[in-house]
Amino acid sequence: MSIKTIILAAGQGARMKSDLPKVLHKIGGKPLLLHVVELARMIEGNGIAVVYGHGGDKVRSELKAIDVDWVEQAQQLGTGHAVMQVAPKLSDSDIVLILYGDVPLLEKSTLDQLLSHAQSAKLVLLTVTLDNPYGYGRIIRDSNGKVLKIVEEKDANDHQKMISEVNTGIMVAHGKSLKSWLLKLKNDNVQKEYYLTDIIKIAVSEGAEISTIEAKSFDEVQGVNDKQQLAHLERVYQFKNAIDLMERGVTIRDPSRFDIRGEMVAIGQDVEIDINVVFEGNISIGDRVKIGPNCTVKDTVIADGVEILANSVIDNAVIGADSRIGPFARLRPDTKLANNVHVGNFVEIKKSDVAELSKINHLSYIGDSTVGSGVNIGAGTITCNYDGSNKWKTIIEDGAFIGSDTQLVAPVKISKNSTVGAGSTITKDTPEDALTLSRSKQYSVPGWQRPKKKDH
Ligand code: UD1
Ligand code: CA
Repeated sequence: MSIKTIILAAGQGARMKSDLPKVLHKIGGKPLLLHVVELARMIEGNGIAVVYGHGGDKVRSELKAIDVDWVEQAQQLGTGHAVMQVAPKLSDSDIVLILYGDVPLLEKSTLDQLLSHAQSAKLVLLTVTLDNPYGYGRIIRDSNGKVLKIVEEKDANDHQKMISEVNTGIMVAHGKSLKSWLLKLKNDNVQKEYYLTDIIKIAVSEGAEISTIEAKSFDEVQGVNDKQQLAHLERVYQFKNAIDLMERGVTIRDPSRFDIRGEMVAIGQDVEIDINVVFEGNISIGDRVKIGPNCTVKDTVIADGVEILANSVIDNAVIGADSRIGPFARLRPDTKLANNVHVGNFVEIKKSDVAELSKINHLSYIGDSTVGSGVNIGAGTITCNYDGSNKWKTIIEDGAFIGSDTQLVAPVKISKNSTVGAGSTITKDTPEDALTLSRSKQYSVPGWQRPKKKDH
């Protein structure tokens, strides 16, 4: 037995009011369709076909890295018609799983349940019971509870509209049966569509065994049709992320103000995360790390004992153990900080290595630099790394002390244990163990008077 998954993703999504095809809208920074593909991938030996249509070029080019079988549905003539496009690729012995590209939060355990029921039943439906079933296909059962058919909202009579058990659209069917049922679909309904749901009454007429499973929650099976549903499922997703981390021992001050848009590759013990922290890309966090409020951290490795203070923005950095960053610090791509480094407020660092025990505490720009250990960089120090055409390197060796408001005009080297006087513009390499300064001499004008205000 092999499993084939068909992901329906050809719909337009008009209610999103967007140029972007619906399945490319994101939850947790990831396109809806990718959530579904990744879920399908969790099933071993699964062949995945994605039925695309509306905005197909955009969908395919945005997701070109994913290895699936793309099947075009040029005209959207209904869910049954969408599945028909894949039918020639299905083997009789396949177990066919049908998912929606706009239902991102379905759980693996639910799929496992559906697939296990498919061992005995030819067709397994995932249903959910709703307080307000408006808009959904209703599950019609006989007096013994046996499923008879699904009736779509637009085709339902008043009595049927009262039924609160609805079709989620997600189902599993045996390949051979499914192919034969698809051949019998007609579009003689209010919407003139080939409804996939009509296979149920065909299966029933053949006496095929149909089984149903109830979804754990509505959130799990809810599709995205508009921006409100997108926002709702985003919070559901993020709350799940927060719960998962809290179960692993992380302290999250407010799970409703916490966002992961990527992957938490590793996270240690006794980590504390304050409100409004956004993690993007691949993040790895060691033990005893504290992250203050309003920080954005992207593709970064944070070692044990690091403290990131409020309002810091970090992108593509490596932060060594026990370092302290912020508040209001910005670490840009290719910043590597060794252990015990301090980066303070309004400091920007880009493409630079800083060795251990060095401090850059106030109002500095350090770019394209190598900073040794035990270096102290005074307030307002700027590495002038760009001459308008090229970027140049600044090297600051171990034990150097840079006075405040200094410009280091690259390429330049501040040698070991150099001291640079405050307010200097350094354009030549400095010698070791010496004081270097470039500063005009201070003088005073005795008896000088400030200008007086004129009478008009
Ligand atoms: C469908 C079901 C309904 C169920 C509901 C759950 C049918 C006839 N009805 O209704 O019973 O309660 O989903 O949300 O199946 N799609 C295509 N090609 C098409 C039409 C749709 O790929 O020609 C895709 C859409 O992109 C979407 C999914 O199929 O991912 C469902 O389509 P949608 O139009 O939302 O179905 P509903 O009419 O809401
Ligand atoms: Ca829908």
